[in-house]
Amino acid sequence: MKNGKRLTTLIFALALTLALVLPGFAADTGFTDVSGDAWYADAVNYATSHQLMDGVGNGHFNPGGDTSRAMLVTILWRLADEPVVNYLMQFPDVGESWYTEAVRWAASERVVEGYTNGGFGVNDPVSREDLVTILWRYQNRPEADPGQDFADEGDISSYAAQAVDWARENGIVGGKPGNRFDPKGHATRAETASIIQNFAALSITPDPMPQSKTLVVYYSATGSTQRVAGYIADTLNADTFELTPVQPYTSEDLNWTTPGSRVNREHDDESLRDVKLTANTVDSWADYDTIFIGYPIWWGIAAWPVNDFVKNNDFTGKTVIPFCTSSSSGLGQSGELLAQMAGTGDWRTGQRFSSGASQQQVVQWVDGLNLTPNAPTEKNSRILVTYFSMPETTSSSNMTIEEDNSVVVINGQVLGNTQYMAQVIQEITGGDIFRIEPATPYPTDHSTLVSLASQEQSSNACPAIRGSVSNMDDYDVIFVGYPIWWSDLPMILYSFFNQYDLSGKTVIPFSTHGGSGFAGTPATIQGLEPNAQMLDGLTISRNSIQDARQQIVGWVNGLGLN
Ligand SMILES: Cc1cc2nc3c(=O)[nH]c(=O)nc-3n(C[C@H](O)[C@H](O)[C@H](O)COP(=O)(O)O)c2cc1C
Repeated sequence: MKNGKRLTTLIFALALTLALVLPGFAADTGFTDVSGDAWYADAVNYATSHQLMDGVGNGHFNPGGDTSRAMLVTILWRLADEPVVNYLMQFPDVGESWYTEAVRWAASERVVEGYTNGGFGVNDPVSREDLVTILWRYQNRPEADPGQDFADEGDISSYAAQAVDWARENGIVGGKPGNRFDPKGHATRAETASIIQNFAALSITPDPMPQSKTLVVYYSATGSTQRVAGYIADTLNADTFELTPVQPYTSEDLNWTTPGSRVNREHDDESLRDVKLTANTVDSWADYDTIFIGYPIWWGIAAWPVNDFVKNNDFTGKTVIPFCTSSSSGLGQSGELLAQMAGTGDWRTGQRFSSGASQQQVVQWVDGLNLTPNAPTEKNSRILVTYFSMPETTSSSNMTIEEDNSVVVINGQVLGNTQYMAQVIQEITGGDIFRIEPATPYPTDHSTLVSLASQEQSSNACPAIRGSVSNMDDYDVIFVGYPIWWSDLPMILYSFFNQYDLSGKTVIPFSTHGGSGFAGTPATIQGLEPNAQMLDGLTISRNSIQDARQQIVGWVNGLGLN
């Protein structure tokens, strides 16, 4: 009895000592900086036990720290069950990291958009109004009652107003003392945990995305309209359809300063403007609800090669958005005239761009249209896109000629020429991607690289490849990409074909070159993989890779893989 009493006293004393020595330790949360009775302790418990948020290391949660944009998209991505999407995102500040797949998903769903300078701002703190707006977008932008105003309602940005109303109406945010929302204040990690807990407690599952499908149809004689069409398609993940006259326009044909040139004759005699297209109908036309139609302005109206398409399609039930490029003329009556010609469809006002319009100008316009992007391509686990690419710089400024030759700058991101082709192919096919890289990295200094590569080639040395494709058996279709080096495959491609037996698979080569085209490399590959079925490849000059997206898309779609 005496011993029992002493034991009880001892335990009581020990508990008291622990409580005094470790006053901040909260057994509830497991974080030394989150006391069990903090207002956010429960939320932190919720967020961490549901693996939506992690601690910051050393037993800390850092409740007062900022929530970065990378953290927030990761939380939402986890909440959405970590979907894997194929979406070509081009944020220069998003490399391979713990948040990469989350950002890719968030960008594809338009839950979080990049900045107009092309970046994503991974480490930037999220403001309270942005946090709520992002949740609202995740929820597919539900309607909300304007409800009761916060005292600082006037400080809330217009883009966030509906989101804040929705969040208050649904008990996701309560506000701060004095009925303030503090829209520009940084969302602390504790606030984020709490808001996420409230959001999840509503058992909210995103409303199904309204299914929308957009097609960008265009005619372009000299490439300007094509470039704009590509920017629109990239922004909305939309399909494209290029209009090609059966008898294409040569540069002599297009020369309006020469009396009697083809365009002059057609301009002077309306009956000659009936230009036949190689194709004037689109597969799965019924699936599209929004059609962009693009053309250059010719003598103040839409270039007439689009007429054959406009006359031969039924636009009933579709929203049609014209766009054009021109040297100086505006859109003028071009859209109305096409609408009359079509006789069906809900034709919008449209937009004119200058011939050299920037991607940013186009994206800004498309964003303002508030259209839902097409769903990202379904993942296709049968297809592997594998490539070797050797960008000689990672910076778009002060490039040497050699560096410039080796890279393409897309949306501010510096990519190897062949790397860009591979990314576009992956985006369209939904395949997996494997970058062939030497185990010992190649130097990026041009002359050192050239002498090393030439040494390898003359001594027939095949460099070891870093990593491997462990599940090659799973793939039926292998795209293989490479730059042409001295009219041949780079030696590391020989390493690749030595390492993998592609018998029975379909192999599709693609390359970028400095003037020699494929230089016979598809036949070389066939020799190395005699039992593979080779399809016609695509090779693109480094001088035209910048604007080659549509060409790549057209080629892939023409391969008949699906
Ligand atoms: C036959 C012809 C007529 C043109 N007429 C006009 C015009 O009336 N106003 C104008 O601003 N630009 C005019 N242009 C310039 C084109 O509209 C402009 O270069 C356009 O961006 C070309 O687009 P594309 O590269 O997609 O063909 C004309 C060009 C051609 C070839």
